[in-house]
Amino acid sequence: MPIVGFFSKNANIELQNEWEKRLQVYFPLIRLVPLLSKDAEQATSALLWNSPLERLNELNNLKGLISLGQGVDHILTKNSAPINIPIVRIVDPYMAKSMSHWVILSILNFVRDSYGYYNQEKIKQYKSRNELNFLSLKVGIYGVGAIGSVVAKDLHNLGFCVEGWSRTKKNIEGINCHYGQSSIEALLKNCDIHVCLLPLTPLTANIFNKLTFTKMKRGSCFINAGRGDHVVEEDLIENCKSGHISNAILDVYKNEPLPKSHKFWDQKNIRIWPHVAAETNPETAAEQIAQAIKCIDKGELPPNTIDRNLGY
Ligand code: NDP
Ligand code: OXD
Repeated sequence: MPIVGFFSKNANIELQNEWEKRLQVYFPLIRLVPLLSKDAEQATSALLWNSPLERLNELNNLKGLISLGQGVDHILTKNSAPINIPIVRIVDPYMAKSMSHWVILSILNFVRDSYGYYNQEKIKQYKSRNELNFLSLKVGIYGVGAIGSVVAKDLHNLGFCVEGWSRTKKNIEGINCHYGQSSIEALLKNCDIHVCLLPLTPLTANIFNKLTFTKMKRGSCFINAGRGDHVVEEDLIENCKSGHISNAILDVYKNEPLPKSHKFWDQKNIRIWPHVAAETNPETAAEQIAQAIKCIDKGELPPNTIDRNLGY
């Protein structure tokens, strides 16, 4: 009977029970126990989101770690997770579509000036506003992996011209793909809308900073659903203040929840979302997690095991 240590959303027991029920559909013997409990000492795998990582080194039976999201930076950042055991992530088409919906929503709000209309509505003003010509707008997707490639294709199908950036070469129909560190310049200079869907690694941390924002066209729209640490927040605020970035739509922040005292809240052209662009869906993700737990128990390497050297 595989015992799985569980930690998510401050060790929420209802959530743990929901996951256990979902996983047992595929693997009835699975039992979830709180990561911080004595029972977790028997755990062979751990299902984690923002957990206290030092606890993992006290659990000597662990043979694998599973992220409760597509990103694994929450396990890798402090470099304190046990080495020599696999780290597995979710790769769920439902989440990719959900992210695609959020990015499309954000882009269409920008293109159609929805917030301008909301403000007019408040003062009963009936007047057309400037509408951007979507045919002349280029969207840059930074990170065209499991999520970014779906977002890029969906935007292309909506009529946008899309450029993608990745570490290795990609061939995505309809998308102008660039790869390698220096080719980021092409997106920075040519695109009007910039969408960060990168994983957080040593090479991508603080990638959106004074220098890269300056290279973007004046009036660019910046969208971040990757991680808060991709952005030098002070530099974004300066660029939003000056209008160099005309609109920023953010879902992730250096400190989450975003502190009430943070300057982002007061910046009129920054929209704040509370890390909900693509939430993990237990219904659609349970099967692959149950399979991963099975593999880990058998000593096999599960699909979607990340490369620790790359950090994603
Ligand atoms: P993937 O690993 O599938 O894709 C990552 C993409 O980023 C790949 O195209 C990869 O290139 C590229 N990349 C990585 N490092 C570099 C680099 N140094 N230079 C250029 N490109 C690079 O990840 P997912 O698509 O599944 O998820 C991406 C991220 O989205 C997650 O790590 C997480 O941070 C975030 N996320 C946010 C959510 C939210 O609700 N806000 C929800 C889910 C995820 P290559 O293809 O060549 O490897
Ligand atoms: C994820 C997230 O990485 O929700 O899955 O941010």
